[in-house]
Amino acid sequence: MAGDKNYNKEFVHLARIALSGRQQDVQLFLQRIAKRAADSELSSALVELLRKQPTRSSPLRRTAEAALPVDTDSRFQLLRIEEHPDLPHEPVYTEVVSKTLGRIVDERKHLSSLLEAQLEPTKTILFTGPPGVGKTLAARWMAREMGRPLLILDLSAVMSSYLGRTGANLRHVLDYAKSIDCILLLDELDAIAKRRDDSGEIGELKRLVTVLLQQLDDWPSSGVLVAATNHAELLDPAVWRRFDEIVEFDLPHREAAKVFIQSIIKNTSSKIDDWADILSIALEDCSYSDIERKINGVRRAAAINGKNLDDHFPSLLRLDEKTKQDKIDVAVQLVSSGLVTQRRAHELTGVARDTIRERLKGIENSG
Ligand SMILES: Nc1ncnc2c1ncn2[C@@H]1O[C@H](COP(=O)(O)OP(=O)(O)OP(=O)(O)O)[C@@H](O)[C@H]1O
Ligand SMILES: [Mg+2]
Repeated sequence: MAGDKNYNKEFVHLARIALSGRQQDVQLFLQRIAKRAADSELSSALVELLRKQPTRSSPLRRTAEAALPVDTDSRFQLLRIEEHPDLPHEPVYTEVVSKTLGRIVDERKHLSSLLEAQLEPTKTILFTGPPGVGKTLAARWMAREMGRPLLILDLSAVMSSYLGRTGANLRHVLDYAKSIDCILLLDELDAIAKRRDDSGEIGELKRLVTVLLQQLDDWPSSGVLVAATNHAELLDPAVWRRFDEIVEFDLPHREAAKVFIQSIIKNTSSKIDDWADILSIALEDCSYSDIERKINGVRRAAAINGKNLDDHFPSLLRLDEKTKQDKIDVAVQLVSSGLVTQRRAHELTGVARDTIRERLKGIENSG
């Protein structure tokens, strides 16, 4: 009898949310039933239905159920939408990062198998790392791979508005993002934490963090929420813990820098591999975006002056802070690959010509 009553109650609840057109809620409710159902036939029929349901992946379509969120006063759009995210070039990541991102995308491609096994896909992901290492790029990459639009909310922009409205704005954006199949990127998540010191606003900030925590807990399995920060240490540990997955991005080490440099200078010089080797030593410790900016600066200079790129690359060899060994490696490679004379290599690197000669002899003998 008690079972019947429960059944009736759930049925009425389903009818209520269905009639009020809250498709997202209906979907969640059915997922829950599919998980709990003792009857495996019912469970797999529901999983099948959920899998086939029409997607709601176009945020710009005219019949959008929810209007695009705007700031309540300024009416500025709070979200930047990239319907079909475009990548300037393929990202270069460490193996760990590539594998994690690949797995998250794979989970979406095999969603029905996961749901059948009563598992949820990874829904909330935190990207941490210094500026210019590919966090925003990774969100774009994921959106492209999953065939979903990317919605970007820059929290530092939202936070700079009058704080009293921020909670409402944030809620508005999160609700909107939940109503369509997309990837929501909360960029500069630390902006919330940074305002902490400002006394007087602490109450409002606490409410904001609470909104965020609740949303992280109830994020629908159809959605993907990515947050990015340069200052993970500023985040409340309670926020940290809520994410299903934390991905740490790093400055490129030498090998990654080399692959990246090769990809941006391909077809520009006949000595790409040699330059990539040399520049990966000179530009180690720079972020990917710094490397890109420096190399593009040189490419522009070469295009304007009509000179060969090989004549311009040496301007990137600022080696003052490099170790002696790095300087020697650069000098030797410059000469052995025929890019410059021994004298020029000495001028560029400060390494004595005798040393260069000695190392070259060593290489010849061992080769
Ligand atoms: N790992 C990478 N592989 C290839 N290109 C990269 C990588 N990281 C950065 N870039 C280049 O630098 C640009 C800026 O990177 P991105 O915006 O993703 O950095 P970010 O980590 O989000 O930095 P910020 O913390 O400042 O937002 C990219 O558009 C891309 O051209
Ligand atoms: Mg970014």
